[in-house]
Parts: sequence; structure tokens; C-alpha cells
Amino acid sequence: MIKKAVIPAAGLGTRFLPATKAMPKEMLPIIDTPTIQYVVQEAVDSGIEDILIITGKGKRSIEDHFDRNFELEARLEEKEDAIWLNEIRRLSDMANIHFVRQKEQNGLGDAICYARHHVGNEPFAVLLGDTIMDSVIPVTQQLIDTYEQYRGTVIAVEEVPADKVNRYGIVGGKALSDSILELNTLIEKPSIDKAPSNLAIAGRYILTPEIFPALAQTPKGKNGEVQLTDAMLLVLKREALFAHRIEGKRHDIGNKLDFLKTTVEFALKRKEFAGPFLKFLEEMIEEHKK
Ligand code: UTP
Repeated sequence: MIKKAVIPAAGLGTRFLPATKAMPKEMLPIIDTPTIQYVVQEAVDSGIEDILIITGKGKRSIEDHFDRNFELEARLEEKEDAIWLNEIRRLSDMANIHFVRQKEQNGLGDAICYARHHVGNEPFAVLLGDTIMDSVIPVTQQLIDTYEQYRGTVIAVEEVPADKVNRYGIVGGKALSDSILELNTLIEKPSIDKAPSNLAIAGRYILTPEIFPALAQTPKGKNGEVQLTDAMLLVLKREALFAHRIEGKRHDIGNKLDFLKTTVEFALKRKEFAGPFLKFLEEMIEEHKK
């Protein structure tokens, strides 16, 4: 049973400057809810009970978001605002949430190294703190189900256009079913002619403890960063690795255009905004056609 998750949220977020100069990108809200709250909710909805968030410099607001705020609670009590009072309390009670600070932003692989002591000798889920999944069955739950079946590392993947493979980690392997592949290779940002497929790694993983010695042996790559993909390639020498095509949609909030699209999509799904917001969008489109 997978009960622990790690959420790396220590990155510098250079693609979202200047907003990320003094605030974590993981706290950027989609309408009214910080990105990382969607991520924690996905973990909880997948049966995870214990979450380790990897934070760093300038990320205190993430800790505050999942902590009690007695002053705010007292004010909401005075106002007899039971709905928000319950919601604010729920946030500090979603799971056992722990924090550890990554000292230097040396990449996703380096961030995962900080989880070694916490996860011990068990497989664990990893959910990128800047990536929201919109799905009927939580994507982490989908990966856990595949882990239960195959008992190895499971990587969430999704199809990307063939001309965009050079922006992602790409996997290659043999199909075991419509949604599952057994991998024989992984490569970070391959050139179009070297990509083994158009299946891109999508920000969710089930990792086994084998990842830690592999990370320790992985040299720093581009920009001095330790790539998780390179370490998983080392794990592949010792264990089987699987990719699971996710059922759902991935939203990378660290990318400004994706952030805008996600905001619009989520607003159109909210009862209180859907009607007036769609009307506004239609007016905007008409205006821009002129
Ligand atoms: P990204 O690959 O988006 O990197 O991280 P980044 O540095 O945060 O952002 P850009 O590219 O400069 O805009 C994916 C996830 O891994 C975390 C990030 O916080 C994000 O949730 N991460 C990344 C770390 O925890 N530590 C790192 O050193 C790098």
C-alpha cells in the first residue's frame, strides 16, 4: 500500500517571473485555490496519508497555507461564517504534512534526495507541486493501481505533438496494454529524430527506494541540475519500469500560457462564474475579431 507522497515545490520558477521573485509559483491561485492545494487534494483523494513537501527559500507561504490561522478562524467565528471556517480548518487537517528545505535549487532529482530519510524503505508517490491534474479518477490513484499490479516504478505519461518532444522527458518501451508500457529507455528533452516515442513524462510518479542510490550516482547535467529522468534510467538497469498513460488533463502552472488557459477552463466549470464568464469571453472574441 502506498501511503506516502513527496511534493517537490522548491524550484525557482524562472518561467513565471516577475511573480515568482518573492512568491512561490506553487501558491499561484487558479481562481481562488493555490496550485499546491489541488496537488495535495489529489494525493489525499488517492489514499495518501503522509505528505512531505520539499520547500526552499521564499516558500514560507506554503507552510502557512497548510497550518492553523487562529486569528482568521476567530474572525470567521465572530462573523458566523461557518462555510469558510470549516474550509480553513480543513486545510490544516488534510493529511500529515511535513516540510523539508532543499538548500540549493539543484533540480528535481536533487529535491527528491531530501525525501530519503522520510520515506525510508517503501515505494512512494511523487506529485510535482506546479502541476494540476484534471481527471475523474485521481491520476496518483491511477498510478497506484498500476503499481499494485506490476510492483515497479510507474511514471505518468501523456501524448504530446511529435514536434514538441524536445521540451519533455520522453519514454520508450513495449505496450503491455492500452494504457501501460514496460520501458526500455527514457531520455530528457531528446531532439525530434532521437525521441523513442511521443509519450512525455507528466509530473506524477510512483518511485521505489532504488531511486535514492541511483540519484546519488547521477552526475549533474544541464544548468548544474540533477535530472530525475537520468536517475530513473539507472534504476532501469536493476528493476522494471512502467509508464501509465494518464486518463485526464495535465496543467503546468509554471508556464504562463498554461496558467491562463487553466484559469479559463476551471472558471467555466464553476457554477457561479460559468454563465457570466462565458458571456464575457464571447464579447472579448467578438471585439478581437474586429
Ligand atoms: P520545474 O522543472 O518547473 O523547474 O520544476 P523550476 O525551477 O521550478 O521552474 P522554471 O523552469 O525555472 O520556471 C518542477 C517541480 O519541481 C520542483 C518545482 O518547485 C516544481 O514543482 N523543483 C524544481 C524543486 O523542488 N527543486 C528544484 O531544484 C527544481
